[in-house]
Amino acid sequence: MKLKRTHRCGELRQEQAGTSTVLSGWVENYRDHGGVAFIDLRDRWGITQVVFDPEVGPESHKIAHQLRSQDVISIEGEVRVRPDGMENGKLKTGGIEVYVKSHEILNKSHTPPFDIEHHEAVNAETRLKHRYLDLRSTHLQHAMIFRSKVTSLIRNYFQDKDFVDIETPILSRATPEGARDYLVPSRVNQGKFFALPQSPQLYKQALMISGFDRYIQIARCFRDEDLRADRQPEFTQVDMEMSFVDRDDVMSMVEGLFARIFKEFLNKDLKLPLARMSYDQAMLDYGKDAPDLRFGLKIVEISEIFAKTDFTVFRKAVESGGCIRAINLKGASEKLSRKELDEMTPFAKQFKAKGVAWIRMNEDGPQSPIIKFFSEDEANALYEKMGAETGDVLIFLADREEVVCQSLAELRLFFGKKLELYTNDDVALSWIIDFPMFEKDHSGNPTPLHHPFTAPKPEDAEKMDSDIYNVSTNAYDLVMNGCEVGGGSIRIHDQATQKKVFDILGISDEEAKDKFGFLLDALQYGAPPHGGLALGLDRLIMLLLNEDSIRNVIAFPKTQKATCLMTESPGSVEEEQLDELCIVSTVDEDDE
Ligand code: AMO
Ligand code: AMP
Repeated sequence: MKLKRTHRCGELRQEQAGTSTVLSGWVENYRDHGGVAFIDLRDRWGITQVVFDPEVGPESHKIAHQLRSQDVISIEGEVRVRPDGMENGKLKTGGIEVYVKSHEILNKSHTPPFDIEHHEAVNAETRLKHRYLDLRSTHLQHAMIFRSKVTSLIRNYFQDKDFVDIETPILSRATPEGARDYLVPSRVNQGKFFALPQSPQLYKQALMISGFDRYIQIARCFRDEDLRADRQPEFTQVDMEMSFVDRDDVMSMVEGLFARIFKEFLNKDLKLPLARMSYDQAMLDYGKDAPDLRFGLKIVEISEIFAKTDFTVFRKAVESGGCIRAINLKGASEKLSRKELDEMTPFAKQFKAKGVAWIRMNEDGPQSPIIKFFSEDEANALYEKMGAETGDVLIFLADREEVVCQSLAELRLFFGKKLELYTNDDVALSWIIDFPMFEKDHSGNPTPLHHPFTAPKPEDAEKMDSDIYNVSTNAYDLVMNGCEVGGGSIRIHDQATQKKVFDILGISDEEAKDKFGFLLDALQYGAPPHGGLALGLDRLIMLLLNEDSIRNVIAFPKTQKATCLMTESPGSVEEEQLDELCIVSTVDEDDE
């Protein structure tokens, strides 16, 4: 490299006119204007217009027409103010251009498989295969640089508060966060496997027992689970833990961090303390434990009104222990067609609902396929409870509580968006607290709502013997715009309670000893009371940037099928490697 750059491509301004400069970067495009050629030269910092004029740099001008998009070059030249009327207000460097005196081609580029700056229409697979090119786009560069800045603020925040940054192993043992593990076979210990950590949960608890008092780690976590827009098989947590604290200490520590992030990156003053809502309230009012609170459309319980109705669908739902709940889509009548209302049923069928009923509050009276089944008293009680007025649309569901909650929660999100009840600028951040300790899994067995290291509230300790589904915890989730960005709890710090939880979960003494023996042991050696939380860093960045997928804020994300198209991983390995690991593949190569 003969020409060593003196400036970045986003740096030069009119004040530098008349000076000489060396710029290096990628050729963006080439325009020939009757003998004088222009290219936009780009690097991470911006774009500078570069001019090849035969009068200024005859040798360079000769090769200018050979330059192609994404060639890497250095140019040396003179900064000039652009002629009147030729300024480009969209570029920070739009007041100047650089007249090339000499140049150096550092590397030619093949024609890229897609237009890097205008990649919206390009299929996602092509972009992921050439992720290094996609990452050259302004959009992804901005996302990655933004992420780096947020991460840096987070580290500084915790550093200032005396947290110790400690790395925990990746080759680890299964930690039960509810997903499948990624396993790594051990060659040295044949037949044994490491599990990649689903989170550093047990290590951070061990560190509290070691006396570090305040721990922080930007930690990579691995979970083999079904992927969605806000889930990746490997993702990053801001993982923290504190000793001698109660729930409020942890929550206010995290709130302080969010206040700083919001001020610095969104220029918003967060009002602290953040709102809190109990899990039960969230389920009742919004149908899910991560409600989007940027808009209303609260769910209303109306089972009582229809407990004895002649409309069999409704009566039977209540009689069999289910419920009827409804949402008033305020003033939406004009905005929704009959077809759109009828389409709610197939939509809700995804969540096992049998149907969705509706009433349109028209000027000339209510219109609905089901109103004929209601008595006058029932109809009036309903309108009153729902605060129904002309122009509203009421939607209802009768079913098992779980189905009603899930279907109405999704319908609520659908209509919140469709009726444009919020803008991209709105932010709703809230804690969900007081989670039950256990719920029933699909086979009816108790399973922890968070993880099995979450402590029961002291006042509920007695119920651990008799009434486990009414035991509540000091767990807390942080929800931003309907997305769970973080979760944590006060932990169990005595062996007896921890053993009892394993027992309730049907984990035998033997299994507990095998999997969590070190934790059960450690709890006997002066474990301090402790608690913490982990934030989903990818999700947080996604929300701050208003992106709709965490893939857009991860440099090298996996596809929906958990593969990396760029490196083509996972890939096959040599037979020899499998032999060394004592692994026999049962996959028929032809079927792959
Ligand atoms: P939890 O399982 O709730 O808690 O995870 C914490 C946060 O991590 C994010 N998250 C994910 N982000 C992207 N892809 C995924 N597959 C994924 N899974 C989770 C979410 C979530 O809120 N050890 C506990 C924390 C604690 O108790 O301190 C834990 O891991 O934003
Ligand atoms: P049907 O008797 O199945 O024709 O249903 C009559 C109306 O009630 C339709 O508008 C259905 O969408 C609605 N409906 C059916 N089942 C339910 C249910 N479980 N909850 C709410 N509405 C329902």
